[in-house]
Amino acid sequence: MNSPIQSCLEQLHTDIKQLRHGAVASYIPELALVDPDAFGICLVTMDGTAYCAGDTATLFTIQSISKPFIYATALAERGQQLVSQRVGVEPSGDAFNSISLDPQTGAPLNPMINAGAIASTSLVRGATPAEQWQRIEQSLARFIGRPITIDEAVYLSESETGARNRAIAWMLKNFGIIEGDPMLPLENYFRQCSVQVSCLDLAFMAATLGNGGIHPLTGERALASEHVAPVLSVMATCGMYDYAGSWLYEVGMPAKSGVGGGIIAVQPGRFGIGIFSPRLDAKGNSVRGIEVCKRISRELGLNIFNQVNNPRTALTRIYTGADMPSRREPGPLLRAILLEHAHRIKYLALHGYLAVDAIEYILRRIAGLQAESNSFILDMHQVTGLSDSAARFLNQTRLEMKAAGVAMVLSRVKDEYGIRDRLLKSMAPRDMGFLCFEDNDLAAEWCENRLCESMPEVSKPAVTLADFTLFNGVPVTLIKLAESVVSKQNYAQGDCVLRNGDEGDDRIFFIESGKVSVLIPRLQGGHQRVSTLGPGMNFGELALVGQTTRSASVYADSELKCHILKAADLNRLSSEAPELRIRLLENLANDLANKLRPTTQLVSTLA
Ligand code: DON
Repeated sequence: MNSPIQSCLEQLHTDIKQLRHGAVASYIPELALVDPDAFGICLVTMDGTAYCAGDTATLFTIQSISKPFIYATALAERGQQLVSQRVGVEPSGDAFNSISLDPQTGAPLNPMINAGAIASTSLVRGATPAEQWQRIEQSLARFIGRPITIDEAVYLSESETGARNRAIAWMLKNFGIIEGDPMLPLENYFRQCSVQVSCLDLAFMAATLGNGGIHPLTGERALASEHVAPVLSVMATCGMYDYAGSWLYEVGMPAKSGVGGGIIAVQPGRFGIGIFSPRLDAKGNSVRGIEVCKRISRELGLNIFNQVNNPRTALTRIYTGADMPSRREPGPLLRAILLEHAHRIKYLALHGYLAVDAIEYILRRIAGLQAESNSFILDMHQVTGLSDSAARFLNQTRLEMKAAGVAMVLSRVKDEYGIRDRLLKSMAPRDMGFLCFEDNDLAAEWCENRLCESMPEVSKPAVTLADFTLFNGVPVTLIKLAESVVSKQNYAQGDCVLRNGDEGDDRIFFIESGKVSVLIPRLQGGHQRVSTLGPGMNFGELALVGQTTRSASVYADSELKCHILKAADLNRLSSEAPELRIRLLENLANDLANKLRPTTQLVSTLA
């Protein structure tokens, strides 16, 4: 099945290939040798899927499309403050090779015209031109996603005929915009313009900007996220020179053209587009390239000013700790408390990129639930990013709620989207920040503990066998009988109490005080925590039904005191008091049923 996007590109290619007006650039003699009929269209998604039509592998020189990426490199290396002193962000409304300098400072009006681009190149660090070139090369390679090559013939052709750019470079030197010999960075500017790219490369460069600075296929970060918006904004206002206004009006995407016949356009968070067709209009923009972008924007609805985002989609579900309790095995007391109060633990399943509008809606929902809640778990599993202001508001609200005794924690935060960094960056001094749990179960257990610790009666240690679920309803006489064969064992924090796979071990453990974690081995190595047990809970009880090979490991999470009963002893006692064994097996069956219930509930909730 041909993807509708693929068919759309092929149709555009067929239709627009008919356009034959315009002329290839010739002021750089080598450029005049290009095949004027070459024509390619590529669209790349944020996960690196590429749709291509026409000559998408043909190499040509990147020319001015290098400018936003070198401006980005200068921002990354020198910071926005210094760069903005040397290069402005105002559209000049003039042609790309105009000497548009700020009358006061002599700074080029923006980094998309040659003057601003040469200034940007000069800001890339390097003790020597060779070192500077190396940094330019590495940066462009990160955006393209492969090592780069330059077209030496085009480079030499431009360097030999670049008198106008040389004049511009000396002007910039004259105004102190460029330090040292301006011809050195200018040669690197000529080299960057001569970098060989294909239409597909351009689409990946555009998609990298659209994907917040991360290359969608290599996963490498080519630009820090805080520099992405500044680069896209100057592309939107200045990228198409004295056609920028009409472009934004008719196409509505940040873009950049080059006299080699390339155009890139970016739909932030959605697509990167690359087009190659060397016939240019009078303003130096690809004729077919502009036509493709007008149509693709209209047909795929890519105009950024058309984007309707419903913040409500950021919150997909609210449910409670009663719907999704932790997997731990609550003792009778804890279970009673959770039965009554678990609804005060709220889960909020969040989705997508959380900008300020989404966070405003989410925090408004939380505010509406706060009075009846003890804690909120924000499930970030489906969250693909967080804006600075959203992070700030989340931190602010968490601190205010903490002061009101209500906790807000995060679970399943994906590392690749820089969410933790954003939250850390917007934290107040001495703020411990968000508690982030690896999964909802750990978060739920932490919230359950927090809820129960707010109820003093929970942490009382279990003293006799009667406090344990397995002995629920067992007459005192029989309990006394069982206690006659009990042994006691203390463990230090970290001790291994039981090891998965151990055989012939019929001990049943009853936790008097302390906590243990029950772990099972993961197929891919390591362990998965399946539950945590505390006072009043037991483990190893399957020995009662003859299962003496251990199916999990148990480690002491704290100082641990246990009562230990051997199944053999219990069976011996049961020969004289059969009711003991019957009651224990009844309770064991109930216990297993209770363990099963949350799992079936979990499945139905996830269904
Ligand atoms: O500096 C020049 O003139 C060329 N290397 C780049 C100009 C260019 O690509 C203008 N874009 N439309």
